[in-house]
Amino acid sequence: MLLGTKVLSNEVASQAVHEAFGGVVPELASRAHQQNIVPVVDRALKVANISPQELNAIAFTNGPGLLGSLLVGTSFAKSLALGLAIPLVPVHHMHAHVLAHLIEDAHPRPIEFPFLCLTVSGGHTQLIEVQSPSVMTVLGETIDDAVGEAFDKAAKILGLPYPGGPHIDQLSATGDPTFMSFNESNLPGFNFSFSGMKTSFLYALQKEMKVNPNFITTHLNDICASYQHALIQVLMKKLIAAQKSTKIKNIAIAGGVSANSGLRDALTQWGAKKGLSIFLPPFQYTTDNAAMIGIAGYYQYLEGINAPLSTSAQAKIKF
Ligand code: KG4
Ligand code: ZN
Repeated sequence: MLLGTKVLSNEVASQAVHEAFGGVVPELASRAHQQNIVPVVDRALKVANISPQELNAIAFTNGPGLLGSLLVGTSFAKSLALGLAIPLVPVHHMHAHVLAHLIEDAHPRPIEFPFLCLTVSGGHTQLIEVQSPSVMTVLGETIDDAVGEAFDKAAKILGLPYPGGPHIDQLSATGDPTFMSFNESNLPGFNFSFSGMKTSFLYALQKEMKVNPNFITTHLNDICASYQHALIQVLMKKLIAAQKSTKIKNIAIAGGVSANSGLRDALTQWGAKKGLSIFLPPFQYTTDNAAMIGIAGYYQYLEGINAPLSTSAQAKIKF
């Protein structure tokens, strides 16, 4: 729940069910959405200390994402907007990650336009030039796996719980990033590719395990640190190239992987060296959260953008 750009409540229902399967199972995700949506909205209203009648609009994610989960949210949002006779405001999930930087308490001083945003999540990796809340251009994106996926798939190979990104991050803290190296694909322009890196990771481990079957357990921290370092190098190269090309001085990161401490450190060091303003999101606005949908909905609402009650969710949707 938001009042202008101020967050009144930001309730998240995490789905522990996926841990047992080592990944998100779409059918289980939809069911968990259906189970959670009423209690979570109820809790959000209570924490914000407002009644449904005080709401001005209902923002909801219309895509991209898993269709089943999107359908649950869309149907619920429609019913609520219809019941309260207030506007229904559609939000693009990836716009919302970027716009989380405009939340009142996101930064000690507000982020200024234009800014470059590297959005790194489990489903996307995008370099965005942000001119205003409604004008954003994709400069480049992944042509295969998202960087979050590259973290999670490697973690699975290492036998770490799902989602593996935070585990790799934590183990890397005491590892040697120069222990191993992996093949980086270097695409021209600002696009990314991570599937080659993941394959290179698998082959490198298989080779080492032929010699030492305990290679993973003996060197877990060093393996994590090396792989994390390699992924960050790929991200930083493109971000640096985009900054040089656009000359934009305000730089932000967004999405689940923006919680990564190695990536945050790399940005901070680069910013200090080059005199750039770096905007790292607070942790509660990195992985998927309600506040980011709220802020994106707020700007849509100000522009008078509503969805008709005949609207439907879309798994793939234009940026
Ligand atoms: O934005 P998000 O919550 O969901 C999507 O829209 O995909 O991102 C989830 C991704 C997962 O791949 C997860 O492993 C990754 O963010 N992640 C991290 C960290 N925290 C979350 N990856 C690396 N280091 C972290 N600290
Ligand atoms: Zn997300």
